[in-house]
Amino acid sequence: MTTTTTGTVPVTGAVGTAHTRVEGRDKVTGAARYAAEVPLAGLAHGWLVVSTIARGRIRALDPAPVRAMPGVLAVLHHGNAQPLESDYVGPMGPADPALQLFQHDRVPYAGWPVALVVAETSEQAREAAEALVVEYDEEPHDVAFAAGRPEAYVPAGNPRSPAEQGKGDLAAGLAASAVVVDEEYTTPEEHHHPMEPHTATAYWENGRLEVIDANQGSAYVAQELARLFALDPSAVRVRSEHVGGGFGSKGARAPQVAAAMAATVLHRPVRVVLTRRQMFSLTGYRSPTIQRVRLGADPDGRLRALDHEGLNQTSTVHEFVERSADVARAMYDAEAHHTVSRVLRLDVPTPTWMRAPGEAPGSFALECALDELAERCGLDPIAVRARNEPEVGPLSGLPYSSRRLLTCFEEGARRFGWADRDPRPGVRREGRWLLGTGTAAASFPTLAGPSTAAVTAEADGGYTVRITAADIGTGARTALALVAADALEVAPDRIRVRIGDSDFGQAMLAGGSAGTRSWAWAVTLAARALREQLALGGTIPPQGITVRSDTAEALAALPPRERHAFGAQFAEVAVDVATGEVRVRRMLGIFAAGRIVNPLTARSQLVGGMIWGLSMALHEEAVRDERWGGHVGADLAGYHVAANADVPLVEADWVDDPDEQDPVGIKGIGEVGIVGAAAAVANAVWHATGVRHRHLPIRPDRVLTAGAGDRG
Ligand code: MOS
Repeated sequence: MTTTTTGTVPVTGAVGTAHTRVEGRDKVTGAARYAAEVPLAGLAHGWLVVSTIARGRIRALDPAPVRAMPGVLAVLHHGNAQPLESDYVGPMGPADPALQLFQHDRVPYAGWPVALVVAETSEQAREAAEALVVEYDEEPHDVAFAAGRPEAYVPAGNPRSPAEQGKGDLAAGLAASAVVVDEEYTTPEEHHHPMEPHTATAYWENGRLEVIDANQGSAYVAQELARLFALDPSAVRVRSEHVGGGFGSKGARAPQVAAAMAATVLHRPVRVVLTRRQMFSLTGYRSPTIQRVRLGADPDGRLRALDHEGLNQTSTVHEFVERSADVARAMYDAEAHHTVSRVLRLDVPTPTWMRAPGEAPGSFALECALDELAERCGLDPIAVRARNEPEVGPLSGLPYSSRRLLTCFEEGARRFGWADRDPRPGVRREGRWLLGTGTAAASFPTLAGPSTAAVTAEADGGYTVRITAADIGTGARTALALVAADALEVAPDRIRVRIGDSDFGQAMLAGGSAGTRSWAWAVTLAARALREQLALGGTIPPQGITVRSDTAEALAALPPRERHAFGAQFAEVAVDVATGEVRVRRMLGIFAAGRIVNPLTARSQLVGGMIWGLSMALHEEAVRDERWGGHVGADLAGYHVAANADVPLVEADWVDDPDEQDPVGIKGIGEVGIVGAAAAVANAVWHATGVRHRHLPIRPDRVLTAGAGDRG
C-alpha cells in the first residue's frame, strides 16, 4: 500500500497493489468457519436419500423401520412433506423443479432426492438413510446424448440475445471460400466440484427462517427460499461468510430447502451436507456439447463465412442452455455469420452455469477451428486472428468498450518465444516425447448487476462496508477493502468489509465474472458520498454515519457497447508416443481484462482458470452409464481434476486495459482465464503430433488410437 500526499488531499493507491487476503490468517488457522462448521445448540443432521433409477415412480417408501433406528428424528418424503410453491418466477427465473423436494412420487433422473433422514448425529442420519428401502416402478429412460436427434430444438433464449442469430448467406459464403474448415468438436460432461461440498443449516428464530449457507449470492438464495416457502422476503435471512469454491454451482440447491423443511418440522436447527457422490446429481454440471464449426476463408485467411452450431443436453424438467456458439459473436466477423445453440432433453439432471458457461466449450471448438484454418492457409495462427480483428461487434455493430486482443497476442508471443516456432507439425522429438506449442484467443463478457452497499464511518475512526457480496475464494472481500480505501482516501487497514448476509440488501451474485465489478461500483458510490458528507465536518455519533448506494440507475444509463475481457493463451506440450500421455510443459496467458484491483489474487484467479483449461483438455470427463443413467466413478478418483503433478509452470499476466465506464476501471477476471486454454493445449498437441484431437479430454487411449489416422 502506498499513500502519497498531493497538497492536502491524500491519494491512496490501494487498488492495483498486491494485498494478501484480509481473512487469510483466519482461514489458515481455522478461525474462519465454513458453513458446515458453525456450532449451534441442538443441531440435528439431515442426510439425503437419492434415487437409484433414472425414470419412473416411487412405488413404496416405508419410513417406519428407519424411524426406529438410533437417534432418528424424522424422515421427510413425498408422503409427508409440506407443500412448496412452484408457480413463480424467482430471482434466477422460473421455479426450478429440482428445488421441489418431496412434492410427488415421480423420478426424472438418477440421483433425484426422494427422502431426507434427520437424526441427532450425522453418522446416525447416514446409517438410517442408507437403510431406507425405496421401491420404484421403473420406466425406460434415455440418457444418450448424440448429434442428429430430431428432438433437439432451438430454445427461446432472450430477446436481447437469441439462441440463434445470423447475417448474410452462409451457403454462398462457404461456396465462395477458397479454404473451408468443417469439423465437429465435442466436450464431455464436466463438474464443478468445489473443495467445500454444498451445505446448509436452517433454523427459525423470532419468526424468521435463518440459513447458514455456502453460496454465491445470499440475497438470491433468500429470495428463492421466500418464494418456495411463501414467506415474506423479510422473514428469510441467509448468511454465507466463507465459501470453499462455487464455480457456478452454489445457488439455491437441495440442501437449503431440505434443511428448512426439516427445521420447520422439528423446531430445531438442521444441517444438511452433500456427499461428493451426491454432488454429481444435485449441484448442476456443465453439459456435454457437440459443436459443428464451419469456417470459409480467402487464401489470406480472411473469413467469408462463419457457422458455429452447438448442442447441449438438459433435463426433462428444466431448460438450461449451454451457449457454446455465442463466443463467435464477439470474436470474429464474416459477411455470412451464423450461430445457434440447440438443446436436447434427456432423463438427466439439469446442467447449469460452470466457469465460463458457453465460452469454455465454445472457445475449444472455435479456437481449434481457427488453428485448422491457419494450417490450411499456411499462415501463423496469430496472423489469422489479426486478419479477422473486427472494428465493431460483428452482429451488434456496436463499438467495443476496449479490445486489446492483439496487444495480448503480441505481448504473449514475445514472452512465450513464439517467433522461433517452426510451424510444421510432428517434427520435434525429445526421446520418446513429441513437442509442440499452441495458442488460442480468449474472451468473456463484461457484465454488472444492480447492487446496494452501505458504508459506515465509525466513531473510532474506522469504516465498515456492508454488502451482500460473496467471496467464494476469489479474494473479493479483500478487493472491496482496497476499493473502499481508495474511494474514502484512507488506508485499507481502516476498512472492515462485511459480506455474505442477505440482510445487507440486494447485490449481484458472485457470477458472470461480475461480482467484484458490481460490488466495487456500489461500494465506490457509497464511499464517495460518505467522504463528501464527512468533509462537511462535525463529529461522528456513537452509531456512526452510514451512507447507502444503489447502482441500478448508473447501470441502466450505461451506453450500449460490446464489453468483453480478452486474452491470449499459449501452451507447450509433450506427447509420449508410446503411452499416449500428454504433459503440458508450460502455459502463458496474457489478458486485457480491465483494471486489476489486487494483482496477487487476480493472478491466482487467472492461473486457476488456465489450470481448469488444462484439466478440461486432458482429464475431466464424467461418464454416464446408459444402463441405469447415473455416473461411473462418481468421486474425485473417477473424475480426475488436474492435480499438482499435472500442472507445470503456469503464468498469467495482463496489459493495461481500464474500463472507461466503470468507476474503478474493472472488467472482471473470474472466467476469462479458462476460455481458450483447452484449445491452446489441443492445438499444441496437433503441433506436436500432426494429429487433430477434436474430442475432449485428450486421453492417452485417444492419442494412441488416433495414431497416424485422423490427420488434420
Ligand atoms: Mo459463474 S459459472 O458465472 O458462477
